[in-house]
Amino acid sequence: MLPLLLLLLVPGGIARALSPESASQLPAPQNVTIDSRNFYNLLRWAPVQVEKDPVFYTVQYKTQSYDKWGEINCTHIAETKCNFTSTEIQSHWITFFRVRSELEDMQSDWVETDAFMAAKDTIVGPLTLKDVVSNPDSLLLNFLPPLGKVTSIFDVEYLVHYWEKSTAIKKTITTRNTQVELQNLRQLTEYCFQIQAAVKHSLRSYSCGLLSNTSCHQTTMSDGTKAGYILLIFVVTIIVVVGVAMVFFYLGNFNEAIKAWSQPSLKIPSHIEEYLNDPDMPVFEDWENTCVEVDHWDSLSVVSKAEGSQTEA
Ligand SMILES: *[C@@H]1O[C@H](CO)[C@@H](O)[C@H](O)[C@H]1NC(C)=O
Ligand SMILES: *[C@@H]1O[C@H](CO)[C@@H](O)[C@H](O)[C@H]1NC(C)=O
Ligand SMILES: *[C@@H]1O[C@H](CO)[C@@H](O)[C@H](O)[C@H]1NC(C)=O
Ligand SMILES: *[C@@H]1O[C@H](CO)[C@@H](O)[C@H](O)[C@H]1NC(C)=O
Repeated sequence: MLPLLLLLLVPGGIARALSPESASQLPAPQNVTIDSRNFYNLLRWAPVQVEKDPVFYTVQYKTQSYDKWGEINCTHIAETKCNFTSTEIQSHWITFFRVRSELEDMQSDWVETDAFMAAKDTIVGPLTLKDVVSNPDSLLLNFLPPLGKVTSIFDVEYLVHYWEKSTAIKKTITTRNTQVELQNLRQLTEYCFQIQAAVKHSLRSYSCGLLSNTSCHQTTMSDGTKAGYILLIFVVTIIVVVGVAMVFFYLGNFNEAIKAWSQPSLKIPSHIEEYLNDPDMPVFEDWENTCVEVDHWDSLSVVSKAEGSQTEA
């Protein structure tokens, strides 16, 4: 690799060292490359530096099947690029380009490119995502095709790579539509995906385009789960309401039971009774209230005793 680079660079250096203004040869353009994105084709090269006037360039092309150099409207131009997108050169032609620099009556050697075929060498994408529709078990993706022209001339397939965000195990769907449904997904789960176009440039070969940005979307909740949640909330509410009602009911009965059980046998010693009746002791107010009923009960028992004694008498 290194010897090759040296071979490529040295002649230019020598040409420059030999004062190009006076020599019959100019330095040749360097770094001649073809930049092809979505079938927009641009041939570009590094500007040739000489001390005198601006340098001009001429581009020619030929095809593999017709071995004769022709022009493409990039003849004696000042720019260091040639846009050959809208020329007669077809996307499926195998084409070669050559460039040289020109200044007054001087010219450089031609610099030739490798074989170029837009259908094979262009970089398609990245695709643009239009929208995503989330469902409980699927995501419906809509995206834009790379270029109207591409899809009308070539067979284009789309690869949709997707994975559950938490696992990163990727699956790929291949489709010819710009709408695709990722199926059998889990509800309420975040899935990520990337889309890529593949252009069929010959019988069996596809050239893969750029991956789109990663996009992540969550599936929605299924109707069943929704109904389940609603039912659960309903049942929990009922249980809470009934529970609270029962607690109040039970506490009420419990108080009654305690009263009923403790009061007949409970005899408060008289000195404590006096103490309890002391109005300066508010702490025992509740107890006092109970005591009011005790008095009531006592009076009843007194009556029954009186009845008893009357019966006895
Ligand atoms: C050509 O490209 C190489 C690598 O990108 C760069 O180092 C070099 O400066 C370029 N030459 C010119 C004349 O621009
Ligand atoms: C050639 O280039 C010139 C100037 O850039 C432009 O005006 C003209 O329309 C082009 N001709 C063709 C056939 O593309
Ligand atoms: C090249 O030409 C095409 C159409 O002729 C145009 O749409 C595109 O913008 C041009 N690209 C550049 C980089 O000038
Ligand atoms: C991809 O993401 C980058 C940075 O987040 C953004 O600048 C770019 O526009 C995005 N490309 C597309 C095709 O959405």
